[in-house]
Amino acid sequence: MLKLSKLATAVALVVAGAAVHAGEVEVLHYWTSGGEAKSVAELKKIMQAKGHTWKDFAVAGGGGDNAATVLKSRVVSGNPPAAAQIKGPAIQEWASEGVLANLDATAKAEKWDELLPTVVADVMKYKGSYVAAPVNVHRVNWMWANSAVLKKVGVTTTPKTWDEFFVAAEKVKKAGLIPVAHGGQNWQDFTTFESVVLGVGGAKFFTDALIKLDQKALTSATMKKSLETFRKVKGYTDAAAPGRDWNLATAMVIQEKAAFQFMGDWAKGEFSAAGKVPGKDYICAAAPGTANAYTFNVDSFAMFKLKDAGAQKAQADLAAAIMGTEFQEVFNLNKGSIPVRLKMSMDKFDDCAKLSSKDFVDTAKTGGLVPSVAHGMAIKPAAEGAIKDAVSQFWNDDKISVADGMKNIAKAAATK
Ligand code: GAL
Repeated sequence: MLKLSKLATAVALVVAGAAVHAGEVEVLHYWTSGGEAKSVAELKKIMQAKGHTWKDFAVAGGGGDNAATVLKSRVVSGNPPAAAQIKGPAIQEWASEGVLANLDATAKAEKWDELLPTVVADVMKYKGSYVAAPVNVHRVNWMWANSAVLKKVGVTTTPKTWDEFFVAAEKVKKAGLIPVAHGGQNWQDFTTFESVVLGVGGAKFFTDALIKLDQKALTSATMKKSLETFRKVKGYTDAAAPGRDWNLATAMVIQEKAAFQFMGDWAKGEFSAAGKVPGKDYICAAAPGTANAYTFNVDSFAMFKLKDAGAQKAQADLAAAIMGTEFQEVFNLNKGSIPVRLKMSMDKFDDCAKLSSKDFVDTAKTGGLVPSVAHGMAIKPAAEGAIKDAVSQFWNDDKISVADGMKNIAKAAATK
């Protein structure tokens, strides 16, 4: 009898504990493509294993513009999600509104300061306190190619310069295939644009023109050459590109309809989900002229201030899980990125990820490591939006001359 009552008390305590500690975690993200959905499902699994309820708040639209709009309306109406995929300078903007939760207790217990590169930790902090948890490191300046297509059209070596690239693209075109798979959002145009600028001008020029937004650099001969090269790339895309999602463009490469795509390594998540093997079925290479540089894009989740104790506990567990070794490995294997947590084993990762990891470290030493503007890592959202629009206008309208395109971009860069 005594034993039974003790058991009942113990059960009651556990149940009470669960009521206080388990919570619902509503997570706003934009990972809806095949590879992305597989990746985020791993986070859901980990959270469910901890007893929490995962409320999925997926807003379709690569690059996250749609998600950002939805997030704003939820926060303005006083009903923020527990966590949202926010990154780069936007983290600081949200934190300055006073709506983000302080993650220092988790960060301290989990030793984030020791486990993160300083460049990343700084972005996750507002006034010295952690307000976001980083997920991964994506490299943006990649070129993806279908091996069978290149073989078929007689391209025997992967192009390393833009001149070599155009020779290869011409061969693909002559064979009746699409040289460059491209889609139709401004971030996709800018993803290609920033790789072209990096390849034509190098990391220092990239920084001056696209990060410091220096008017001299933005109106220089190097920028002129970049825009000419960018327009030439456009000539190798198909007429159906406008409006196409990035993952459908990747599918064109996977299905041997197109030869190349300029896209960050979330594209690798699509190749992997389709069972394709790097080095065999497809090639990953730095975009022409950018082998010594690296445009980085760190995904992260910011947590919003919530009142419910269970929800707060779930948030803390989510933050800890994101930086944990289990999640860092399995998520990044699916996503195409590399772990952001230092000292992780790369044994299970493929050659593209190993190259990314090596180049991330090497370029940090040589000055070739630069934040991606296309993916919200470098400049304030207002200026970023304005230059993206100017670049897309130039890309989509062949009647805009290079000189006018350059003027429009320089003017947009002055947006405060
Ligand atoms: C990027 C994001 C990636 C990837 C991509 C396409 O901005 O950082 O995680 O999902 O957009 O949606």
